[in-house]
Amino acid sequence: MARVFSAIKPTGDVHLGNYLGALRNWVEAQRPGESVYSVVDLHAFTTSPDAGEIGERTMNVAAILFAIGLDPDASVVFVQSHVPEHSQLTWLMECTASFGELSRMTQFKDRTARADGGFISAGIFTYPALMAADILLYDTDEVPVGDDQRQHVEITRDIAERFNTRYGEVFVIPRAVTPAAGARIMDLQNPTAKMSKSEQSDAGFVGLLDPPDAIVKRFKRAVTDSDNEVRHDREAKPGVSNLLEILAAATGQTIASVADEYERYGDLKTATAEAVVELLRPIQERHAELMADPGELHRLLAHGAGLARERAGATLERAMRAVGFTPPGA
Ligand code: TYM
Repeated sequence: MARVFSAIKPTGDVHLGNYLGALRNWVEAQRPGESVYSVVDLHAFTTSPDAGEIGERTMNVAAILFAIGLDPDASVVFVQSHVPEHSQLTWLMECTASFGELSRMTQFKDRTARADGGFISAGIFTYPALMAADILLYDTDEVPVGDDQRQHVEITRDIAERFNTRYGEVFVIPRAVTPAAGARIMDLQNPTAKMSKSEQSDAGFVGLLDPPDAIVKRFKRAVTDSDNEVRHDREAKPGVSNLLEILAAATGQTIASVADEYERYGDLKTATAEAVVELLRPIQERHAELMADPGELHRLLAHGAGLARERAGATLERAMRAVGFTPPGA
């Protein structure tokens, strides 16, 4: 069986893209002893959130993970900063990654281009090394993610292979797994840009916890095109194609079969909105229950962190020994 690891950053509001592109597949992939999922608060710190914000967001996202169906008896669910081995292995990863390969990462290039001379933390640059540590600590075979994280999983493979070549077979080489429909959900107002927590345009964004009437309104106003033909073609018809992909992903049908079913844009929008509202309703209900009992949520996360530390500690020790660091107390 494949060992699975994935993670989500507690920044902005969790959205439909996160759910259809990744989170949903985490639930599907969960098997006792084999699935590990994290709320990566250290990653969120790369953008220096306001004081106090990061902890609150972490709890909210953790509640979402249990609300979508992650089962603490089947999966290890934990907060990244509760497992210090992530930071420790990161240093080894930073010293194994090259300056050149980190400079070529799309996310880094986009962020620096947009910063327009403003502050860019060194953490934004070394971010892939922390992500490699996350993945490699759990002997991961498969990483269920959306399309935008493929490059990060690729660099993780490169770093792991380099480390193994230098010091022996320490790390399992992981691969990214993306869904057939939903790997790249686009902004409803700007369907050539992905739906994103950081560049949230309110009208084009569907939050996992948004009320049904707001969701319906956003789909009604979704940008399409003027030729009135329901057809999947990402290049020529990005808006309509995005709606078809959302509807397919939300209902479990293929893109071709939903495209066949609708002739008018209005009907497609209504059907998509309804499918999304129904998909999110039970999640929103469970999320509200979980948030009403923060003690229980903390307990679940402490349990997860304990299990994660056992595994992460063993891998870190293996890596340190392979390099030849002198063990403490030896
Ligand atoms: P993050 O927090 O931005 O996103 C969480 C997951 O959601 C997916 N996703 C999307 N999928 C489809 N359509 C979209 N518009 C969309 N937007 C986001 C992402 O691909 C991701 O799977 N660097 C990661 C977090 C991370 C991680 C890891 C992931 C840290 N360590 C180790 C996997 C393994 C990130 O910022 O994801």
